[in-house]
Amino acid sequence: MRRVGTVTLVGAGPGDPELMTLRAVRCLQRAGVVVYDRLIDPRTLDHAPPQAERIFVGKAAGQASMSQRDIERVLIERALDGQHVVRLKGGDPFLFGRGGEEVEALVAAGIPYEVVPGISSALAVPAAAGIPVTHRRLASSLTVITGHEDPDKFESSLDWAWAARAPGTLVILMGLERVESICRRLIDEGQSAGTPAAAISSGTLPQQRSVFSTLSALPEAVRAAGLRSPAIIVVGEVAGFPQMIATSDLLTLAEAV
Ligand SMILES: C[S@@+](CC[C@H](N)C(=O)[O-])C[C@H]1O[C@@H](n2cnc3c(N)ncnc32)[C@H](O)[C@@H]1O
Repeated sequence: MRRVGTVTLVGAGPGDPELMTLRAVRCLQRAGVVVYDRLIDPRTLDHAPPQAERIFVGKAAGQASMSQRDIERVLIERALDGQHVVRLKGGDPFLFGRGGEEVEALVAAGIPYEVVPGISSALAVPAAAGIPVTHRRLASSLTVITGHEDPDKFESSLDWAWAARAPGTLVILMGLERVESICRRLIDEGQSAGTPAAAISSGTLPQQRSVFSTLSALPEAVRAAGLRSPAIIVVGEVAGFPQMIATSDLLTLAEAV
């Protein structure tokens, strides 16, 4: 009887292949099968042996993406076949990445698994745009939410009133398509229209683009710049940091900290 293989959920980092961990590279070098998503940079796959099977499970242009159930089935089938499967996911596998669901499916099927954390876009993309998500004077906490769900929906699973009141920095993933309703809802729920806000697309990659604005003016700024997904929205005083340091005397700033 063939020995059962393993599945390793590997975080590929935010985009730039140089921002993968050493352990992620080592796992890829040993992979028999790599199952990967849409946001994975193709250069990342070069670490896998040429003979390794490469299975794309993201949404290809004009086609529906593979269902989560079917992805889990592929992982289980290949592992039962004795393969070492690398499930390569953007950023960190457990931040809005359905990694938890895949672990549940693997455990239910009796497949040994391992998780290799990755650098999440939630932290790396603001950093690549010059935004420190916390700063002793500007923000002492960080809230990460998904903007995937329509904020205009009557019953939202996300508490927008709470998000608008959350102190510190708000980082919103998957929100670019709904930037207008997100900003409007945050203002309706009490956040100041003048709060600094930024949007960064394709962070850490050569095509990275950023816009810096205020909460009320961000949708227009995003439209004018023609930003496209994947993108991250940052709301809070830290979103004004790059402009702040560009216009202030660095010595004065350092003295104030
Ligand atoms: C399904 S979530 C996965 C997040 C991932 N697990 C992580 O930790 O980064 C995908 C969202 O992450 C954000 N994202 C991922 N890579 C990005 C990048 N290079 N630039 C901007 N946003 C990015 C976007 O908001 C995108 O819609």
